[in-house]
Amino acid sequence: MIFLRLSIIYEHFNNTYMSKDWWKNSAEGTPKLVTEAPGPKSRTMHENTSKYMKGLSSQVKLFPVCFDHGYGITLTDVDGNKYLDFSSGIYVTSLGHCHPKISEAISFWSKKLMNIHDFTTPVKEKLMEKMASILPGKLNAIQLYSDGTTAVEAAIRAARAISNKHEFVSVYRDFHGKTMASVSCAQMYRGQTHSYGATRAPGFYMVPHPNPYRPLWTRTDGTIDTDAYIDFYENFILEGTVGNVAAFVMEPVQGWGGSIFPPEDFFPKLKKLCEKYKILLYDDEVLAGMGRTGEWLAMSHWDVVPDIVTFGKSFGNGFPVTAMVVKEENGEALEKISASSSYGGNPMACAAALACIEVIEEEDILNNVREVGQYFAKRMAKMKEEHPIIGDVKGKGFLLGIELVKDKSTKEPFDKAGVLVYQKAFRKGLAWIPAGHILRMSPPLIMDEKYAAMGLDMIEESILEVEKEYGYK
Ligand SMILES: Cc1ncc(COP(=O)(O)O)c(C=O)c1O
Repeated sequence: MIFLRLSIIYEHFNNTYMSKDWWKNSAEGTPKLVTEAPGPKSRTMHENTSKYMKGLSSQVKLFPVCFDHGYGITLTDVDGNKYLDFSSGIYVTSLGHCHPKISEAISFWSKKLMNIHDFTTPVKEKLMEKMASILPGKLNAIQLYSDGTTAVEAAIRAARAISNKHEFVSVYRDFHGKTMASVSCAQMYRGQTHSYGATRAPGFYMVPHPNPYRPLWTRTDGTIDTDAYIDFYENFILEGTVGNVAAFVMEPVQGWGGSIFPPEDFFPKLKKLCEKYKILLYDDEVLAGMGRTGEWLAMSHWDVVPDIVTFGKSFGNGFPVTAMVVKEENGEALEKISASSSYGGNPMACAAALACIEVIEEEDILNNVREVGQYFAKRMAKMKEEHPIIGDVKGKGFLLGIELVKDKSTKEPFDKAGVLVYQKAFRKGLAWIPAGHILRMSPPLIMDEKYAAMGLDMIEESILEVEKEYGYK
């Protein structure tokens, strides 16, 4: 314990915020394993905690490690093992753990004014101006919340208020949260006998997601046929709804679903379809937004400006702050939905979000994501060529996925390999959270090529070990 405390003090002392390299000294020597992982202290603490704490994620159950502290791109567990962070929590701590500027901003307001309902504060004024300056196309009517799901619920209410319509169309395998309306835009409880109250509400429909690796409709050359998807959607709007669709709800990139990007021509065509039927395009950027793909909005890759956007996760780098934004011309709708909440926009939250945006600008983070993102893309393409169980690699910037299959021609998902690669790489010192047969990766956006390569090395070694165990090599 004394060793751990000293190492935290050393890391902070040795890493004053002089430059964008604030995290580099502390990352030296990572990964560093001093016990097998998870170590004895981790296992005991996990056991004690899980006597009471129920509903843990599968990742925690498969690797019961207990973390003590994080700094920059590394995490240290209670046994003193130091890991490279390849998931940013769950797409949250995107600017690194305990970024000095962000921690300082939260700390300052925690001693000055913690909550004052939704009255204006100096830091809220600055955040509003900053957000309006970075968002495209008059997306500047804003409300703040404290988790992604609540922002999504507000977006659903706002869509109804703007359009005076009540139906919603979303896509298979998107994820938007776990409360009534947000879960109604997803398929979380598939195959379960009971959905325990979280079943889909009336008026919420789902249509196929355009997954280029597993397309439902293809052209004669076998590539995904975007037009066929758009035709199906149009037909569905006309025949499968009561003609009252308020919004088309989509993640710009399927995050939880496995870092799945639609084809390049998809969103421009979807936007046109929405315009034809006066349907709002609601872009849920809770996971993909705020720089993860190299743009403030992932949707900007396709030059499309949505009507509604939600932000979360990276927005406060770990401080719970989220946002729902509509276009200026629709701002009045937020007056109709009683948009404010108890914690949304409290001074600490505004300070965290403002500091995050400033850090992204000051440290040229979008550029880093684009540059190192190219390294990721190249290296992963090579891995795909060399490994029989890698069916597909996907991603832009730092929103990445490697899809494991039993056979490249049948594309049968290789779930067991996903679990084994997850555990093996974690034991080598990689803190990450893949899902099933798709190895999801979302490293902190501050990471440079040296550590990007180190993370992929640990994953590739683990894949090779699994291939050998299963007789592929
Ligand atoms: C796209 C998307 N929307 C909404 C949510 C819900 O956010 P939260 O977990 O903060 O409620 C998530 C969470 O993973 C998400 O990925």
